[in-house]
Amino acid sequence: MKKKKISNNNLKSLDTTLNNSNLEYSNITIIQQNLLKWYNKNKRDLPFRKDKNPYKIWVSEIMLQQTRVSAMLSSYYNFIKELPDISSLANASEEKVISLWKGLGYYSRVKNLKKGAEYILDNCKGVFPKELDICLMIPGIGSYTANAILSISFNLPFAVLDGNVKRVLSRLFLYENNISLNSSHNELQILANKLLNKEEPGDHNQAMMELGALICTPFPNCNTCPLVTECISYKNGMQNFIPIIKKEDNRISIELRFYLLKNRNNKLLIYTDKNRRFFKTIPSLPFLIFGKSLSVKYEEPNKFRNDFLNSIKSTPRYLKKKHSITNHDITLSYIMETIDDFSVFPNDSIFIKLEELEENFPSSIAKKLLKEIIEDSLF
Ligand code: ADE
Repeated sequence: MKKKKISNNNLKSLDTTLNNSNLEYSNITIIQQNLLKWYNKNKRDLPFRKDKNPYKIWVSEIMLQQTRVSAMLSSYYNFIKELPDISSLANASEEKVISLWKGLGYYSRVKNLKKGAEYILDNCKGVFPKELDICLMIPGIGSYTANAILSISFNLPFAVLDGNVKRVLSRLFLYENNISLNSSHNELQILANKLLNKEEPGDHNQAMMELGALICTPFPNCNTCPLVTECISYKNGMQNFIPIIKKEDNRISIELRFYLLKNRNNKLLIYTDKNRRFFKTIPSLPFLIFGKSLSVKYEEPNKFRNDFLNSIKSTPRYLKKKHSITNHDITLSYIMETIDDFSVFPNDSIFIKLEELEENFPSSIAKKLLKEIIEDSLF
């Protein structure tokens, strides 16, 4: 399809029309009504939509920030079954919450969730607050999460803005700026606030996210969209070109080289090191980071890593599967060595059997390594 040139700035036009014209107000009302009607008929039957408990909404929102609904459901059921409320989460051990988060990745999120629960127990008598400013003081809760919980649980008028909502809004109003920019985030938040149905903010927000997940997808299904008659991008044949997403190329290529250091009982060393670049808060196999573009300051120097691991000169084996963490494209490799001199090991070293690796080093990297080591028949 040929891209048509659109000269008007729809954000501005929306801004002025919202202030000046009743006709445009009625369009906003039509959008709100069509959206809610569609949502009530088509929404997925999801466990966290069954009651408005802010704790359950909170857990679901944090899980949904890192994965799709279909991939988080079983973890969600399990998490809520084991830790059904704020105080059980606050009082659970860190190992327990991490094990319940297995498979979802980004373990810092569940640690913050626990810190948030502790904060509410200590500062809010264990009751999730209804005030936005207090919510934003809870560790791990930012503007998106606060708006989602307050609107869905308490029907308070705060508009959510996630990736799906950005796509819906930018198509609906033909927003032509690069939506990856911070300035666009602020402008789209203004649009989301203006479009918010103040009578049903919780359902409105969920409907926007649901529309983005089911209909207004990257390749949109406009023929089944409840907002098609109001969509300025569709009217201009622009739905396949909006949103405009230009990510800065800030990706970093590195190699993570893991060291399988066996003691005389054939057990492997794992340990936790809060000063390293990755896996700061979970035990992991020792590793070094290699990469052309790494600055010296990338990791704080450390005797065990810099002197001991660096002195191991065996040839690493490279894994075929790549990995990524945030903006890092990672090549994985490993070296296996038997070590006799225990004095070099960090103080909090633990020794585990190979088959206990996944359980003790809760990252999908452990799974990839294990598969390869078994295939290489090296252990
Ligand atoms: N994505 C994140 N939260 C959601 C929700 N409550 N409904 C639909 N999609 C979502």
